[in-house]
Amino acid sequence: MSARPRLPASIEETRERLLHESYVADRPLATAVFLALKLERPLFLEGQPGTGKTEIAKVLAQALGAELIRLQCYEGLDVNLAAYEWNYARQMLEIRLGEASHESREHIAASLFSERFLIARPLLRALQPHAVPPVLLIDELDRADEPFEAYLLEVLSDFQITIPELTTVRAPRPPIVVITSNRTREIHDAVKRHCIYHWVDYPDAARELEIIQRKVPQARQALARELVAFVQGLRTLELYKLPGLSETIEWGRALLALDCMSLDPQTVDDTLGVLLKYQDDLVRVRGSEAARLLESITAGTAKAS
Ligand SMILES: Nc1ncnc2c1ncn2[C@@H]1O[C@H](COP(=O)(O)OP(=O)(O)OP(=O)(O)O)[C@@H](O)[C@H]1O
Ligand SMILES: [Mg+2]
Repeated sequence: MSARPRLPASIEETRERLLHESYVADRPLATAVFLALKLERPLFLEGQPGTGKTEIAKVLAQALGAELIRLQCYEGLDVNLAAYEWNYARQMLEIRLGEASHESREHIAASLFSERFLIARPLLRALQPHAVPPVLLIDELDRADEPFEAYLLEVLSDFQITIPELTTVRAPRPPIVVITSNRTREIHDAVKRHCIYHWVDYPDAARELEIIQRKVPQARQALARELVAFVQGLRTLELYKLPGLSETIEWGRALLALDCMSLDPQTVDDTLGVLLKYQDDLVRVRGSEAARLLESITAGTAKAS
């Protein structure tokens, strides 16, 4: 029989347990996570790239001592790869062996669609019994095709999968489901209706600083403040692709690797490729725009002190 891990008893405890795994959640996100756990509803996280959507599933699994089962979505993803598949090669072998030992056709046919020949993919695995219900991460659902969404809706509404040749598998306790989307297309309302929805935005400066302090603890406070202010400034520009948290963290690590103690125009220009990944954006920011941003940060720091 599967046991429920001790779930957080409040929004504050949810925040603390995420923080314990180095995930800094603001109150609205902690509320969404708390409610998803409490009401046993999937958590639907939509938002900008690199803002911690995938990470929340990993961190939740760690915090609850649960297995993380990940389904990465992409165009063409189908039931065979998402839910289950029959092992045709082993079935063929079984037929040959059966024929060689003169078993009856009926006997061979009856044995072919048993669990021995079933390959469980992430959705089915998440519904099978576990000591602790697993965390099922359905990552980047917007990349999958709409028919897959319809199938998913069926699975999520009853937490069961019907395998016509065999049986219906029903989860003894629903898994903890986290769905993410980068909103390259709208996900169908029917799927969202089943979920607790939360839009994950870029963090404000205070939260981004806290994240940097946890993820790049070797960075001096002054440098961490500067780099966060710079990235926050970049996000106010009209760029093709704004830097996410992954880029801020990576930049912090890059600056440390270069023994940089404080931002200067040359270092910013030289390392801008860690933050911006499009040539047009780089051309736009490198040089005078970067220098202007740096100046406004230094002026702000001077005013604050
Ligand atoms: N709130 C947070 N606290 C701590 N670390 C965070 C937080 N949010 C994001 N991160 C870190 O930022 C990085 C990017 O997070 P993640 O991969 O989850 O983003 P994502 O929203 O799934 O991005 P994408 O849309 O590109 O898949 C990870 O290394 C993660 O550790
Ligand atoms: Mg992701």
